[in-house]
Amino acid sequence: SGFLPQLKSILSKFGVPKEFLDILPGSLRDYPEVPQAKGALSSLRGEPFFIPLYELFLTYGGIFRLSFGPKFELKGNPGRNFRFCYGEGPDPSRWRSMACSTKGYCPSIASEVCSSYDWPFGRATDRLCKKLDAAASDGEDVEMESLFSRLTLDIIGNALFNYEFDSLSNDTGIVEAVYTVLREAEDRSVSPIPVWDIPVWKDISPRQRKVTASLKLINDTLNDLIAICKRMVEEEELQFHEEYINEKDPSILHFLLASGDDVSSKQLRDDLMTMLIAGHETSAAVLTWTFYLLSKEPGVMAKLQDEVDSVLGDRFPTVEDMKNLKYTTRVINESLRLYPQPPVLIRRSLEDDVLGQYPIRRGEDIFISVWNLHHCPNRWIDAEKFNPERWPIDGPNPNEVNQNFSYLPFGGGPRKCVGDMFATFENIVAITMLVRRFNFQLALGAPLVGMTTGATIHTTEGLKMTVTRRMITPIIPKLEKKFREVDGEKALKTPP
Ligand code: HEM
Repeated sequence: SGFLPQLKSILSKFGVPKEFLDILPGSLRDYPEVPQAKGALSSLRGEPFFIPLYELFLTYGGIFRLSFGPKFELKGNPGRNFRFCYGEGPDPSRWRSMACSTKGYCPSIASEVCSSYDWPFGRATDRLCKKLDAAASDGEDVEMESLFSRLTLDIIGNALFNYEFDSLSNDTGIVEAVYTVLREAEDRSVSPIPVWDIPVWKDISPRQRKVTASLKLINDTLNDLIAICKRMVEEEELQFHEEYINEKDPSILHFLLASGDDVSSKQLRDDLMTMLIAGHETSAAVLTWTFYLLSKEPGVMAKLQDEVDSVLGDRFPTVEDMKNLKYTTRVINESLRLYPQPPVLIRRSLEDDVLGQYPIRRGEDIFISVWNLHHCPNRWIDAEKFNPERWPIDGPNPNEVNQNFSYLPFGGGPRKCVGDMFATFENIVAITMLVRRFNFQLALGAPLVGMTTGATIHTTEGLKMTVTRRMITPIIPKLEKKFREVDGEKALKTPP
């Protein structure tokens, strides 16, 4: 923002009246008006809302004001609608410790001999592989979107608070409760009227009563897990340090508690809920759209499988392998470009400010369409093409800074994703283990794969795929030999 708005913001904090600030030079009235994007409400119906936003961007340019009326504005406030699951959400001062704990979790995994099987990533993906193996034997098609959702729920539950949802194997009460709450949060973020705020409705609507009961079950479970973990931390003699790890419970919750973070159980529970929500559907959506894209580009899939065969063979990936799985990483980079999760970020202006050449008033909501940035025809050659090669294989891992904020896979600035490293390892493990063992094709006669939005981009009717076992000769890669020499037990843990 410019100097004058900043000066005025400071003066306003010192209590200088708004009427006086408005007559100072550089008042927001002196700036050009933001172009108004007008249209019929009907044009926003029936498709995910970032698609009309993209069309408006092509017509009006990078910054425009939406004048589609209240319905659209209500849609754009997912933050408010998630609050019922985690109160007011994490206090920004808690960000650092949340970020440190997920980042701390990754170095804990990063030992060369520590395969992903020792961590939730590999174990849960292995369970998914067994499921797919059975489907391949029976010649049954599978709906991959819901399987990915279950995979990432199992992973995040285990990593966050050492809890085995095991949703890939069965639907326990707690799994159903988690899905009830997540679906409700997503439905609220796209619903035009907040009926859930009507006091009597909460008590009489069977659906709202189910949501309340589910939330209670989740909160009780989290409270128990926090209490157990607090006791463990009190009893242990280990001193906390950067590479601290409790072998019995290497969870993020344990890490948070052991770091001596002085925080109430309620705040901890809210933080865990935030991470559960933020880290579950995002990763599931990335996997869903990556497999969709791969099914459309057999050449990319073949190149990916070649890399996985030569780097991993039949063993579980380690964090060390990440730097050699360069093409796999580029596939994920490109999938996140074409299907950013979430596709639109939302901010509210706390003060009068200036964006580009346009004035922004205090209290205005701003949609930052990452979808628009990632599909902009002026920025990307063949913007709609799934082309992992657009990212130089030996170049730096693309992020918001080295791409000059035209690529925002994990957001940017102080509210950037705290789980970026975690999610990258999770996605690499899942993709490599799956494509090593199976080929994936869109099922014959499956419905067209359309998009719809909640907090992330979902498919309209699932991702139905035919999964077949790959005919591959077993490879004994170098690192496995090393395991056999140094640690016979680790070698036994490789998949058959
Ligand atoms: C925030 C993307 C996985 C925890 C964000 C933001 C993005 C993002 C774009 C910024 C939101 C904003 O600016 O408003 C992703 C993607 C993931 C992923 C694409 C998977 C590939 C994870 C995981 C965790 C996590 C695994 C936790 C372990 C968070 C948290 C926030 C966040 C706590 C802040 C949420 C808030 O502002 O309310 N993520 N994320 N994310 N992410 Fe992730």
